[in-house]
Amino acid sequence: MTHSQAYDVQPPMGMLAELTHRCPLQCPYCSNPVALERRRQELDTATWQRVFAEAAELGVLQVHLSGGEPALRPDLPELVKACVDAGLYSNLITAGVNIDRARLETLADAGLDHVQLSFQGATPEVTDHVANMTGAHARKRAFAAEVTDIGLPLTLNAVIHRANLHQIDEFVDLAVELGARRLEIAHAQYYGWALVNRAALMPSREQVMEAVERVEAARERLQGRLVIDAVVPDYHARLPKPCMNGWGRQSLNVTPSGKVLPCHAAETIPHLEFWNVADHGLGDIWYDSPAFNAYRGTDWMPETCQSCERKEIDWGGCRCQALMLTGDAAQMDPVCEKSPYHDEVQTLAVLDAAGDPDFTYRRFARTTEGA
Ligand code: FES
Repeated sequence: MTHSQAYDVQPPMGMLAELTHRCPLQCPYCSNPVALERRRQELDTATWQRVFAEAAELGVLQVHLSGGEPALRPDLPELVKACVDAGLYSNLITAGVNIDRARLETLADAGLDHVQLSFQGATPEVTDHVANMTGAHARKRAFAAEVTDIGLPLTLNAVIHRANLHQIDEFVDLAVELGARRLEIAHAQYYGWALVNRAALMPSREQVMEAVERVEAARERLQGRLVIDAVVPDYHARLPKPCMNGWGRQSLNVTPSGKVLPCHAAETIPHLEFWNVADHGLGDIWYDSPAFNAYRGTDWMPETCQSCERKEIDWGGCRCQALMLTGDAAQMDPVCEKSPYHDEVQTLAVLDAAGDPDFTYRRFARTTEGA
């Protein structure tokens, strides 16, 4: 197979398979698009099985089975098995509120390699409030116990924001208590539904600095026992995050209906054309589709990025954020201190941090159930 591209494109390593947008939780920081894909649009089992085989052939090593809540797919064990048959490492990203012991054993028997469990808070009050689900925290704790009892490796994922940033130490304690090997502390990213709630989610710079110190102290204290990954909110930063480690460099995203995206929020960039696995092979999409080539490499970068020594470290930051905050996806990420928009973004972060703390919850039932 020959492919046309100027940039030396390597095969992807990871694939996020969004099996469904349906979800039992109502998190205000949901990064899925505001317009969700409906149940009747979801790829069927056979198509996902083909996609996993094509992913392995393309060079993908890890598949993250995600959503929404992937456990809402009745065929989840078959999909896990398809990953295993293709030689892919399978990671289930779940809210952990609707998988009982029998189902978890079925998934483990199918060959599931790893479980990543989200916690919206480190205590029942906060988790249940953020997820807008009574009893969610207790169910997640029980699920975590089943995961480790069965012998599956467990990672806890905590999306942090103004309403739970004070709980860093408690999140760390929870991860240790539940037997997790890794804790991911990721600040809410303001795309999709999260953008609607930005003023309720944005922390102050002081809160962020304190959280960073707490993470560092915990890392030192728990060296060799718990790995802690942390992504801080970048509106308060001087340098942009290397979003996706570069557009079209290492990973791809398949939506429930089969559209293949370079990043989770790429559909917010209106002029991009996304190819679908129903019409194209995954390899052709990775190498040749217009969306993947739009911001690949460094040729697309504005002059300030082109002449920056960090251009192959930051990769220009985040395209979706550039569009959202400047109106142009080909601008440098305005979080960068070299951006003419940098001061404006920092002011916006300060204003949002003093914003209304009430959440606008995401209510999936109206948009996806029974569709
Ligand atoms: Fe799309 Fe960062 S989320 S490039």
